[in-house]
Amino acid sequence: NKMLLWQRSAYHFQPEENWMNDPNGVMYYKGWYHLFYQYNADSAVWGNITWGHSVSRDMIHWLHLPIAMFPDKWYDENGVWSGSATVLPDGKVIMLYTGSSFASAQLQNVAVPTNISDPLLIDWMKFESNPIIAPPPGIGITDFRDPTTAWYFPGDSSWRIVIGSKDSNKSGVSITYKTEDFLYYDLLPGSMHSVAGTGMWECIDLYPISTDKTVGLDTSTMSGSGVKHVMKVSLDDDRHDYYAIGSYDLEANTWTPDDPNIDVGIGLRLDYGVVYASKSFYDPVKKRRVLWGWVPESDSESADVLKGWASLQTIPRTVRFDQKTKTNLLQWPVEELEQLRGRNTEFSNVDLPAGSMVQLNIKTANTAELDITAEFEIIDQQTASPDDVVVGRYDCNTGGGASGRGALGPFGLLLLADEGLSEQTAVYFYLETLPNGNINTFICQDGKRSSAANDVIKSIYGSTVPVLDGEKLTLRILVDHSIVETYAQEGRTCITSRVYPTKAISEAKIYLFNNSTDTRVTATTVKIWEMNSAFNRPYNFENTTG
Ligand code: FRU
Repeated sequence: NKMLLWQRSAYHFQPEENWMNDPNGVMYYKGWYHLFYQYNADSAVWGNITWGHSVSRDMIHWLHLPIAMFPDKWYDENGVWSGSATVLPDGKVIMLYTGSSFASAQLQNVAVPTNISDPLLIDWMKFESNPIIAPPPGIGITDFRDPTTAWYFPGDSSWRIVIGSKDSNKSGVSITYKTEDFLYYDLLPGSMHSVAGTGMWECIDLYPISTDKTVGLDTSTMSGSGVKHVMKVSLDDDRHDYYAIGSYDLEANTWTPDDPNIDVGIGLRLDYGVVYASKSFYDPVKKRRVLWGWVPESDSESADVLKGWASLQTIPRTVRFDQKTKTNLLQWPVEELEQLRGRNTEFSNVDLPAGSMVQLNIKTANTAELDITAEFEIIDQQTASPDDVVVGRYDCNTGGGASGRGALGPFGLLLLADEGLSEQTAVYFYLETLPNGNINTFICQDGKRSSAANDVIKSIYGSTVPVLDGEKLTLRILVDHSIVETYAQEGRTCITSRVYPTKAISEAKIYLFNNSTDTRVTATTVKIWEMNSAFNRPYNFENTTG
């Protein structure tokens, strides 16, 4: 079936077949970037979870290795669930993961490579002393999973990890353990942080970021000038990843958000689309923090079974503190992605009067694999009549989408559009005036008309994005068949969603549009690169380079 085949990505990570969920144990080791992932080797639906394993020189081209861990012990026989890697100063690698045991109790375990001189880290050995941590008193046995990467506390020469859970009042909590040898673990009293009403915290991530440099920081960097800590949680109840920026006090074992109103789980989302269970690591080669996130399907399970696979990973993203706004992270595709950029078409100063649409003729028929950057400027923002002024009420999800009309938007791009525009995916800005006269800028991704199929989820995703005085409105959009990733204002707000066109699968059209009622917009520059495919294949053991 041509349509189902079309949905496979050309440059996003995915296994050759079957089901994948969370990224696990991401790290750099002896020349290779390692990605492990929750993987069902038997089918395209979740279950029988193993650790799939792939390696890459650049995080873009991937070679698949044998499965690293199977559910073959009593303490993980129901599944080898998510976990994280810690590369110790002496080069040893510790993998901590959750075993879903025979009784479904969630137990923490350690695995280590059997041969640390093998850069591919093919064989793994589970510790004799597993499980090393069981749910502590007061914690439900099925609410205790996904250990973090460990960080070092010189104060008492030991390592710390956290594990997410929820308490009896359904507050999300992070529980801390300390260990000197990764064999014996002590529970630290209290919780490092907790937020009422957020429920089970899956896949916690806690890492330092620099507020005055652009480099990333090793997970064990705790203090120094301009060090803050990001806490990220995946909320099991609403299936989204949230983060907050704050301070971590190692002595006291507390993490405090900079702004309690945007605490973790109730404030900023890492991605306003469907990304979940993300995990970051420090890349010592390029001195950056890199984030991976699971991108599930939005089609039906039966369609997944038919096509034989389910899920992608985001393009790995470099994560930094936004030194301009000081309130959010910046996420951006790793620079290695740019090596795939092929033929380029550029447009400049495209005039978009209110209610207009302009088709962009690009020099490729391959409109399913693109990297796009676009900049917009508002030319004359006519004073809207009082009726037109939406005052602090807009919401991407419930607003009128790309076809709704406001005084100051929507305007942006239509992608993956068929000839008659019956199928199209829109990425657009929408501005609204607040009672105090300030402007609120939204970035939205409208999949409502992305497919004629009726067994797929079609939503409008998005949120506000900070725009500072004098800044243009900027976008980067990655289109890779059934995935569209949007980065607004250098990655202050990100949206990733899945689309399943049925007609717009060959030679789709691209348009600029401005559906506002009385604002003229100029697309000052639009650059569209056709992307080459990245290889994504089994490692060839006959060949020394894989
Ligand atoms: C998140 C998650 C984790 C768990 C794993 C199981 O998607 O539910 O909490 O470890 O997936 O596959």
